[in-house]
Amino acid sequence: MSDYVIRSLKTLEELQAVETLQRLVWDDPKTVIYSHMLISLARNGGSILGALRGDQLIGFIISYLGLEAPESERPAMANLKLVSQRMAVQPEYRGTGVGYELKLAQRNFAIGLGIRLITWTFDPLLSRNAHLNIRKLGAIGQVYYRDYYGSGDSALVKLHSSDRLLAEWWVTSNRVEQRINGRRSSLTLQQYLEGNANILNPTSANAQGLPVPAERIEPPQSTLALVEIPTDYDAILSRDLDLAQAWRAHSREVLERLLNDGYAVTDFIHGVYEGRERSFYVLSYGEYSEIRISRFSTN
Ligand SMILES: CC(C)(COP(=O)(O)OP(=O)(O)OC[C@H]1O[C@@H](n2cnc3c(N)ncnc32)[C@H](O)[C@@H]1OP(=O)(O)O)[C@@H](O)C(=O)NCCC(=O)NCCS
Repeated sequence: MSDYVIRSLKTLEELQAVETLQRLVWDDPKTVIYSHMLISLARNGGSILGALRGDQLIGFIISYLGLEAPESERPAMANLKLVSQRMAVQPEYRGTGVGYELKLAQRNFAIGLGIRLITWTFDPLLSRNAHLNIRKLGAIGQVYYRDYYGSGDSALVKLHSSDRLLAEWWVTSNRVEQRINGRRSSLTLQQYLEGNANILNPTSANAQGLPVPAERIEPPQSTLALVEIPTDYDAILSRDLDLAQAWRAHSREVLERLLNDGYAVTDFIHGVYEGRERSFYVLSYGEYSEIRISRFSTN
């Protein structure tokens, strides 16, 4: 789909459309970033990019300046990063590349400011978001937050939990440039398995066809490990709350364990395996010397 443009949104009217799209996606007044806040961000160095099809806003991404290592004594100008706070695409335009193009426009904005790191958090149980963030964009993940937005009543909290993985997008790194220019080899699940990666938690399907987490988590056999998640967590949330809860506890345990052992999320695979649609994080141990983020954490 190419009949839309991406540009900076600056006027109150445009930013009200961002507010309206947020209401549609999250349907929770506490979660919406209001237009008066957006206008202040837009006028003070933040960025609100919109994908516009004619006058219709079909997607947006909000970012603001932050510090790469907040506790560092480096001067702020040598310590800047971009924080990507929120992105959404109208439901009928999802899966057509709009989110990807918004992220590329955000990357251009960062590079124009001389900034090399963009970070954001995402729910690690959402396969679609993981595919976009890790596989297509080349972000990596090293930090897991339990209940980042608390456990209270909010659209960002599901089943009293809001665990998030921090996506670190080193926008000028070789791996990101190769990934977005299509020059980085896209390894398949089979290739990872042949390369000595093992699946630590292979799922089985229950009578409803929903994936059930493995009872036992295998240890990694090499510097590469595969961690399975559901391909459609939202479907589990709407059909089986106990299973959704079990998935949160399970993925928290396995991801925290590996990240604490020094593995990092470096790839994501989504496709058909053994007759079912499956999704896997790829975690690597000690592979990327470019990774320099400090492991700050709210835990
Ligand atoms: C997250 C979001 C912004 C992505 O936007 P989008 O325009 O759909 O993203 P894209 O089309 O560029 O990329 C999505 C990719 O995921 C793939 N995908 C779709 N369902 C998937 C699944 N279950 N598992 C893995 N990948 C999946 C799509 O095929 C596409 O990849 P491809 O281009 O390689 O085919 C959009 O889905 C959205 O608005 N979600 C609700 C709000 C949200 O979660 N925002 C992010 C957190 S603030």
